[in-house]
Amino acid sequence: MTNREQALAGKVALVTGAGRGIGRAIAIAYAGAGAAVCCAARTRAQVEAVAAEVEAGGGQALAAATDVADASSVERAVAATAARFGGLDILVINAGISPPKSEVAAIDAAVWSETIAINLTGAYLCARAAIPHLRARGGGKIITIGSGMGHRGAADSSAYCVSKAGLWMFTRVLGMELRGDNISVNELIPGPVNTAMTPASPTGEPGIPDGEWFKEPEEVAPLALFLATAPDGGPTAQSFSLMRRDG
Ligand SMILES: NC(=O)c1ccc[n+]([C@@H]2O[C@H](COP(=O)([O-])OP(=O)(O)OC[C@H]3O[C@@H](n4cnc5c(N)ncnc54)[C@H](OP(=O)(O)O)[C@@H]3O)[C@@H](O)[C@H]2O)c1
Repeated sequence: MTNREQALAGKVALVTGAGRGIGRAIAIAYAGAGAAVCCAARTRAQVEAVAAEVEAGGGQALAAATDVADASSVERAVAATAARFGGLDILVINAGISPPKSEVAAIDAAVWSETIAINLTGAYLCARAAIPHLRARGGGKIITIGSGMGHRGAADSSAYCVSKAGLWMFTRVLGMELRGDNISVNELIPGPVNTAMTPASPTGEPGIPDGEWFKEPEEVAPLALFLATAPDGGPTAQSFSLMRRDG
């Protein structure tokens, strides 16, 4: 293996939403770079499959059935990761949902609340649980998976846009708070990615804006690796985007 492939040797990462899609690709990439990885999401069979895939490739992994909207579930996943691998260096806040499109006047209140609970409050719960462990290591990385929709908005997607706008502000505030702890906090905006979440148009084709780069989850991993391996004291409270237009 080259040095680049082992850039995360000795590091421990927890990736939420690692059962499929972007989170799965990031977990596998981090493990390939030498990190021990905790794969956390609600569907146990999916996180177990990703952890097994990592281990089959010679990596170290833990599967944690976790609901990021549940504080005690998050605490358990973080504690299990630290207990199994001896600490925590990198937290990827990736778990998220995107509810069906609906104008504000029609969106169901329960759907709105669930979106905020998972995409935004879940990020807070994960960061809150992880920070003591990152501080104990003398530094670390928190990477939030944001969205262009949280920067520019989009009709009929209020809950999702608001949750991701809040996540971007959370990233900035947390980056400011943790600067003195050598912990960087940055947002990664993937742009459109071919996952279960990708919205389909009425014709069944993905509704990708004109000119956008519609990518596979594995094509997001290099930027996630860049952020995880950036030097201590590197960028923080910043947004890094794979989009081709503003946001
Ligand atoms: N796909 C895109 O085009 C795109 C673009 C911009 C941003 N993003 C963002 O990228 C992130 C990953 O999305 P994706 O496209 O990879 O979607 P995905 O394939 O649907 O994966 C989402 C992951 O999040 C997990 N998750 C959802 N709710 C959870 C909860 N309450 N607790 C723990 N895990 C939970 C899911 O597992 P369970 O359901 O089993 O819990 C799954 O593993 C999301 O934050 C999304 O907003 C995606």
